[in-house]
Amino acid sequence: MSEGGDIIRFRELKKAFGPKVVFDGLNLGVRPRETLTVIGGSGTGKSVLLKSLIGLLHPDAGGIDFKGQEITYYSERQFLDVRRQVAYVFQGSALFDSLTVGENIAYPLREHFPKMDRRELAERVARTLKMVNLPGIEGMYPADLSGGMKKRVGLARAITTEPEVILWDEPTTGLDPISTRIIEDLILRMKAELGCTSIVVTHDMPSAYYVSDRMALIANRKIVQVGTVDEMQHSRNSDVRAFLDARLPRAESRGVGA
Ligand SMILES: Nc1ncnc2c1ncn2[C@@H]1O[C@H](COP(=O)(O)OP(=O)(O)O)[C@@H](O)[C@H]1O
Ligand SMILES: [Mg+2]
Repeated sequence: MSEGGDIIRFRELKKAFGPKVVFDGLNLGVRPRETLTVIGGSGTGKSVLLKSLIGLLHPDAGGIDFKGQEITYYSERQFLDVRRQVAYVFQGSALFDSLTVGENIAYPLREHFPKMDRRELAERVARTLKMVNLPGIEGMYPADLSGGMKKRVGLARAITTEPEVILWDEPTTGLDPISTRIIEDLILRMKAELGCTSIVVTHDMPSAYYVSDRMALIANRKIVQVGTVDEMQHSRNSDVRAFLDARLPRAESRGVGA
């Protein structure tokens, strides 16, 4: 499953919180520049997996490699370097309410590129706002934005440093169809224009089919299958079938109803 060229590799990961076992021998390899979607029921450890990669949580056993280096036992200080290359887009947008949109987006740029001058900062901020289809709103405050706009500004802030890897934790959950499509296209553009590797956690199967190079299903404390959209849709694995088929009636009734 994981090959020599993987940019990220989770090896035999084990993780429990007290009696609750989340991972028991989880393996997953992520290839450079691919968009890999991780699907699975609520509470199966999708967020725990993303957080483990940037050192917000630590596995009990097993290993995590990033660009050929084992990072499992990195110090907090060493993880800062990983976090410069790997952006984590949280489920909530958590913007600073007292800062303008422009200042919010410039914040990580100032942190990562202290020498960047004002003109370049402003250009980067403007370019990123265009990428999330919100050009020219630098001067607005978070309180003036709709939920979907806030979410997109949160994404803009995460991608403005042009990280090598982006972890998208349920980026379209709760969004209207237009904001959803803008974010899906953003995921595709980050790869096409900047060569980013993305891991996307989502419950939304149409979104997963639209953005994925490959998909991976977590069930029973492991990754049970990794494959292309086509391979997953034709899978005979019972967990994959249960997960994908359980969602079909709902998706169909949405289309037929109202
Ligand atoms: N910091 C934590 N402390 C205790 N339990 C946690 C913590 N983070 C996650 N868990 C538990 O681990 C399991 C997986 O959580 P999570 O990764 O958030 O699920 P999801 O797949 O929905 O993202 C859940 O049972 C959750 O309650
Ligand atoms: Mg989660």
